[in-house]
Amino acid sequence: MNELLRQLLFLPEQRSSLAREIDGLHYFVILATMGGAALITLIGGYFLIRYRRRLQDTPRPHPGAFARPALFLETVSLFALGFLFLTFWTIGTRQFADLRTAPDDALDVYVTGKQWMWKFGYPGGDREISVLYVPAHRPVRLIMTSRDVIHSFYVPEFRIKQDVIPGRYTTAWFEANEPGAYPILCTEFCGTSHSEMRGQVIALDPVDYERWLAGGLASAPAFAQEAAAEAENELAEAEPTMPSRGERAAAKHGCLRCHTLDGTPHVGPSWAGLYRAVVPLESGGERVADEAYITESIMDPLAAVHRGFPPVMPSYLGQITPPDVAAIIELMKSIRDVPHGPDVPWDG
Ligand code: CUA
Repeated sequence: MNELLRQLLFLPEQRSSLAREIDGLHYFVILATMGGAALITLIGGYFLIRYRRRLQDTPRPHPGAFARPALFLETVSLFALGFLFLTFWTIGTRQFADLRTAPDDALDVYVTGKQWMWKFGYPGGDREISVLYVPAHRPVRLIMTSRDVIHSFYVPEFRIKQDVIPGRYTTAWFEANEPGAYPILCTEFCGTSHSEMRGQVIALDPVDYERWLAGGLASAPAFAQEAAAEAENELAEAEPTMPSRGERAAAKHGCLRCHTLDGTPHVGPSWAGLYRAVVPLESGGERVADEAYITESIMDPLAAVHRGFPPVMPSYLGQITPPDVAAIIELMKSIRDVPHGPDVPWDG
């Protein structure tokens, strides 16, 4: 029965200790509400035909305010509905409590969501990206947070779904009831590559899990290696290119309020065509806009000001991370061939 309903409703396999129970409530709610809807439709249809107006009918006075309420029938249906909803609620509350409360002996794994990948940290110090290795038949508690925006951690086969929120820790737990690889999806729209923010939970037989702990992926079973490879491919697809990361960094730090990417000069020189261009300096002389000059201009902008532009840029020393600087330089490289506008357009 369970299996038949599962397939009828196109639900994925039930691979966690709570999945079957959760589906049970789902079936109950669906069957009860569908049954109720079918019953009302049938009765309505019957009345429509049975009491339809016929030619020989004489018009009757409208009952109006004299209609008597069917007190008994209405009381019974109200109580029956109330009872049904209380039943849903009682089962649902108990299941919710079970879903929220991890067993004491659960294995803790730290989960960090970021655009657009899942990172896992184990108490033993191991770190993984995209692939969460867990022992089957043992409860695992996930302690989750986000580095940037709200994501949501979803493993359909386990029937768990939990928002992952920056600046806050949320938890979820599951116990895989069979070794296997199960997809992780992000179910909170989190930007361009939201749909590629996927991963795999690889539940290993306890013996295999110990082997994996000791020897890494090479000692994991074949299915686990395949799933890990697949997760890696998906990660590569989701990973934005360096220039697009640079654009994100530039937007984050407000660079694009003064610099443009299309060659139009603004408060500061446009980044288009700037990389490796010869820059005339306010103090006389010139510099080639290579990695060293660009980095220096970000950290100490007043040291060598581009001639014709006002010395108004604040220092980003300590404000911007080296990977962001590198990404911005890559962004500049990618628009190296876009024509650079005239250097002295800005008149205050
Ligand atoms: Cu992360 Cu959607």
